Amino acid sequence: MNILLVGSGGREHALAWKIAASPLVTRIVATPGNPGMAEHCELRGVAATDVPGLLQLAREIAADLVVIGPETSVEAGLADALAEAAIPCFGPTAQAGQLESSKAFTKAFCDRHGLPTGAYAICETAAEARASLARFAPPYVIKADGLAAGKGVVVTPDLAEAQVAIDDAFGGRFGAAGARVVIEEFLEGEIGSLFALCDGKTAMLFGGVQDHKRAFDGDKGPNTGGMGTYSPAPVFTPQLVEQVRTRLAEPAFAGIARDGAPYRGVLFVELMATRNGPKLVEFNVRFGDPECQVLMLRLESDLVPYLLACATGTLADMPPPVWRDEPAVCVVLAAEGYPGTPRAGGEIRIPDTPGEGVAVFHAGTRRDEAGVLRAAGGRVLNVCARGPTLREARDRAYAAVDAIHFPDGFCRRDIGWRALG
Ligand code: GLY
Repeated sequence: MNILLVGSGGREHALAWKIAASPLVTRIVATPGNPGMAEHCELRGVAATDVPGLLQLAREIAADLVVIGPETSVEAGLADALAEAAIPCFGPTAQAGQLESSKAFTKAFCDRHGLPTGAYAICETAAEARASLARFAPPYVIKADGLAAGKGVVVTPDLAEAQVAIDDAFGGRFGAAGARVVIEEFLEGEIGSLFALCDGKTAMLFGGVQDHKRAFDGDKGPNTGGMGTYSPAPVFTPQLVEQVRTRLAEPAFAGIARDGAPYRGVLFVELMATRNGPKLVEFNVRFGDPECQVLMLRLESDLVPYLLACATGTLADMPPPVWRDEPAVCVVLAAEGYPGTPRAGGEIRIPDTPGEGVAVFHAGTRRDEAGVLRAAGGRVLNVCARGPTLREARDRAYAAVDAIHFPDGFCRRDIGWRALG
């Protein structure tokens, strides 16, 4: 099979690593890719939102399957264009992708189809949003409606900070994504990310992970796109998994199909396990980043047949995926300044043999003219490890972090704390 993989972050490096291990695959082309992905794929320079360019590339390489990594490609309508060209695609249409590309859409969707989620207010102006704050108890949750690269969410107990977040969004900080703001009830409980595949008809659970959203140890500091993950996560008891399947994942697939947009791809259900059962925090219409990294480390089954089955409507023929018993941990090495303005260009050296059970995925790197690896983004490397126990997996990951030369980097040192204490 020839596969075109779209994207350039740690999630896509992990997907490339796993796809490359499939005996079904003869050629992987990734675009725009990153220096780590170059070990597994041919790289091309077509941007993830350049739909005509991606369609042309898919045709040029005679792609049997296009795998969409990021939400921006979904929003740009890549799956729609590929469907018209009859090229199998793992990833939903732009219409189904509204489950991520508009938080206001998703809240209304939950109401329409009876999915449990927190109370909310959709606000079209800063004045409306400021007034709506009075309806919510602190901490306040302020979200830009559209896609903001994981940076459009502010959670704060401070009313003045909440008002600044509202003014920032309406002032253009997130461009068109902040033209509307959603204020949400703060949900008490433990957070978790459950993944489910769908081929338009059949749904299949695809692993549970816990992320760490705040920048610093002890869940302190600003919200980020995710500073580290581990799987399996004890929060996902069999009872919770069953509740998420029946109350959130399957109703979402049924609802979006009833709305005329059958879902093909992976749905990332970010939920809060509250005293009253799981409530939706957000849907994402792709694998999580860095959730995907630990899932790929733990997935024993070949990934490619699952991706293809979603694209071709044959998921009902697939057995449930097999997961390794060994836990996996991912530690994000970020550049100083992230999630604000990260310091760019810092030199990175990764040992040739990073350690037993360890995989280092590139998230935001580039090679300079001399071939030196340098930081080129906020989240720079994802240092992942499996181990016989979660503690050993974490120790291996941190030993690998400590062996990497990246003086401009920082990471959280407490990934997995909820499970390990
Ligand atoms: N780690 C959260 C996300 O991928 O959006």
